[in-house]
Amino acid sequence: MPIVSPSLLAADLFKLGDQIKLIEQTDASYLHVDIMDGHYVPNINFGDKIVGELKQHTALTLDCHIMVNQPEQVIMDVAAAGGDILTFHPETSAHPYRLIQEIQRLGKKAGIAFDPGIALSTYADLLPLVDQVLVMTVSPGFGGQSFLPAMVEKVAAAKQLREDNDYHYDIEVDGGVNADTGQQCVTAGANVLVAGSYVFKGEIAERIESLTRL
Ligand code: DX5
Ligand code: ZN
Repeated sequence: MPIVSPSLLAADLFKLGDQIKLIEQTDASYLHVDIMDGHYVPNINFGDKIVGELKQHTALTLDCHIMVNQPEQVIMDVAAAGGDILTFHPETSAHPYRLIQEIQRLGKKAGIAFDPGIALSTYADLLPLVDQVLVMTVSPGFGGQSFLPAMVEKVAAAKQLREDNDYHYDIEVDGGVNADTGQQCVTAGANVLVAGSYVFKGEIAERIESLTRL
């Protein structure tokens, strides 16, 4: 069963408590929190404060997706606030190798995210270390964009590399995921599905169930 990670970006913030309770009654075990800086991506939204609040109110795994330039300090703050998985875009950090080690030293899971324009081979030397590879299936920055079908091949390549080299990472996809595109990703080897609009712009429990049963 794939892990489903509903993306907070699409939630109704005025009903957040109720929506999280609904998610907790499903098989979704993650909550995806996008953190953006208005520089690396042209949008600004959540930060470590909401991560801290979420930590106090839910046992869901906080799957934090950090889209900021020079992410070192933000990552440490989000980790201290209770983020469980810290995934960043390696091109935003001067020393991504060290950053992965620092995240793991805190007892957290470290992930790296691949923009649609960046090949897995660009960061081949990070793959043995990481706990999660996030294959972006849209260009990062906004919810509600259309899934990029060409990324399915990248998911398959990430799976192949993991098999060939005995790596241990989960493969997560993020952007434009619904039951149909999610199925393509699961078939290719993804085991963590992030979904924002699909989950929150419909009946939450039903939509999550349609993904957990893929
Ligand atoms: C986009 C974010 C996604 C976003 C996905 O940069 O990383 O997590 O919330 O939203 P949907 O599922 O609507 O494409
Ligand atoms: Zn995300």
